[in-house]
Amino acid sequence: MCPARLHLGRPVLIEVAGIDGSGKTTLVERLRGHLNQRGHHAYYRAWPSTYKRIAADLAHPIPWQEFFGADQIETAAAFENLAAVHHHLAPLDHARQVIITDTYTVRWLATAALNSADPEPLAALYASLRAPDLSLWLDLDPGAARERVLSRPSRDHLTTTRDTGRIARYAQAFAATAGLVPYHRHRVDASAPPGQVAAEAARLLDGLLN
Ligand SMILES: Nc1ncnc2c1ncn2[C@@H]1O[C@H](COP(=O)(O)OP(=O)(O)OP(=O)(O)O)[C@@H](O)[C@H]1O
Ligand SMILES: [Mg+2]
Repeated sequence: MCPARLHLGRPVLIEVAGIDGSGKTTLVERLRGHLNQRGHHAYYRAWPSTYKRIAADLAHPIPWQEFFGADQIETAAAFENLAAVHHHLAPLDHARQVIITDTYTVRWLATAALNSADPEPLAALYASLRAPDLSLWLDLDPGAARERVLSRPSRDHLTTTRDTGRIARYAQAFAATAGLVPYHRHRVDASAPPGQVAAEAARLLDGLLN
């Protein structure tokens, strides 16, 4: 018996970005359902930084930014991010595979800017990554996003409840770094009901996959 043929085509890559509470996780789940129903294999991937957690641990109890400097850690994390993406996207990707991530260039640059690092050298590093086939920007007013996070059943976002200005500063960081992203971000109105947000995203995706 012969083994099944390996499909070496590259997977479709979808980036979903937005401030905390803009509805990324909600949209990712709906898109996965939509795609899987249509015979694709849709996966969610997050590429979180281990280096930052190590830095935070080593610097504890002071914030890591004060101990190491934001540029140093953000650069280290950028190389870690490149390695993670190469590791997951390069080998043996099956046909009809769709990877949806909420950790990619748009978010990494905004997070670095939020942490007061210089995003430009990092943008040069991330330019070496493939552009996503579709990049969705969930556009939501920071006040509305904060309300959503606070009313989320899990109430898991401790940093948001402690640091009241974080989401607004994050929104500014996303705006400030938008010009450094080397591909088009599709704006999606994230204040619409979840079904409408998902339908708009699915329409863009279907146009891409068909
Ligand atoms: N379009 C929407 N309209 C109203 N409420 C929504 C919408 N999308 C998501 N929500 C609700 O808002 C809350 C935050 O959504 P979600 O967890 O998907 O955001 P997120 O962007 O993944 O946040 P985080 O960055 O903190 O992970 C959840 O309780 C979710 O049910
Ligand atoms: Mg989420």
